[in-house]
Amino acid sequence: MTVLGIETSCDETAAAVIDENRVLSGIISSQEIHARFGGVVPELASRAHIRLIVPIVEKTLKDADLSLDELQGFAVTCGPGLVGALLVGLNFVKGLSLATGKPFIGVNHIEGHIYGNILSQKKVEFPIVFLIVSGGHTQLVLMEDHLKYRILGKTRDDAVGEAFDKGAKLLGLGYPGGPMIDKLAKTGDPEFAAFPRAMMKDDKFDFSYSGLKTALLVYLQKMSEEEKKKHLNDICASYQKAAVEVLVKKTVRAAKKFKAQRVALAGGVAANSLLRTWLGEVCQKEGLELYLPDLKYCTDNAAMIARAGLEYLKRGRRSELTLNAYPALKLKSMDE
Ligand code: KG4
Ligand code: ZN
Repeated sequence: MTVLGIETSCDETAAAVIDENRVLSGIISSQEIHARFGGVVPELASRAHIRLIVPIVEKTLKDADLSLDELQGFAVTCGPGLVGALLVGLNFVKGLSLATGKPFIGVNHIEGHIYGNILSQKKVEFPIVFLIVSGGHTQLVLMEDHLKYRILGKTRDDAVGEAFDKGAKLLGLGYPGGPMIDKLAKTGDPEFAAFPRAMMKDDKFDFSYSGLKTALLVYLQKMSEEEKKKHLNDICASYQKAAVEVLVKKTVRAAKKFKAQRVALAGGVAANSLLRTWLGEVCQKEGLELYLPDLKYCTDNAAMIARAGLEYLKRGRRSELTLNAYPALKLKSMDE
């Protein structure tokens, strides 16, 4: 089955064509206009999606050497995300579906991230404890089978990617901050500063990340500009370690509690090098298998949306033209 996927939930305009687990082509255009504002400006994102969507889809089809007639269907993110941004992709796909008579399916962006991992594997077995970590989400999910999820816990306030981005902003680094902190932390001392690990000791699987950035703010207020500059890498390393430690500990604890033999990462923060290596080490020690997503399928892309959509289309599912965009859409199992 060959599916065209489209993703416009935030500031990436992306399209991809996949054939089962094979990505035939894919384009991601990251809108640079937001960098100067230190975060995504929703209205500017919608306008940029409108400008970019047609040329990006045309080029994606051309790269795959396919015409619309040769596709079996379309998949598009319908939430969660910025409503104006989502509507651009959704309405575009409705148009394609109406014009070609081929089915389309609305995909949950979080489910897309999960399938960005599955797309990276040769073979998957269930159950899997999935840690979904991005700019908007921090969730632990027990994936019992394809399209079947049990939510174990989620953040009560900020997402971990948000903690990276806001922390980076306080440190005067660019947006998005995760990759910058990751890079600088490599040559820093993770024991330099003590930052809090919220909710690490309780036996629940919820997270809280708003206190971490406040702790950094308070910490920086007590430092001279000179000291901040001198110890930037150390602060990044300490901050990153605090953010990642909770993720690693809770994920492994969940795998043990729910007797899952496999653990998987998804979302933009799954690109974090400390998270990948630390979780890898602990999984090896505990005899757990770790499914890591390819770096290109961690941050927002359309191949992951196409891959999740394909799972539904294969089962004969399709969305109606009345489908809306849902900014706060929750992850649910099929038929739930
Ligand atoms: O999945 P994504 O592209 O968008 C959302 O759905 O939110 O994730 C973007 C997030 C940003 O917060 C970014 O700072 C973070 O992923 N990120 C990282 C790294 N690469 C991206 N965080 C930590 N380390 C990284 N290497
Ligand atoms: Zn995302």
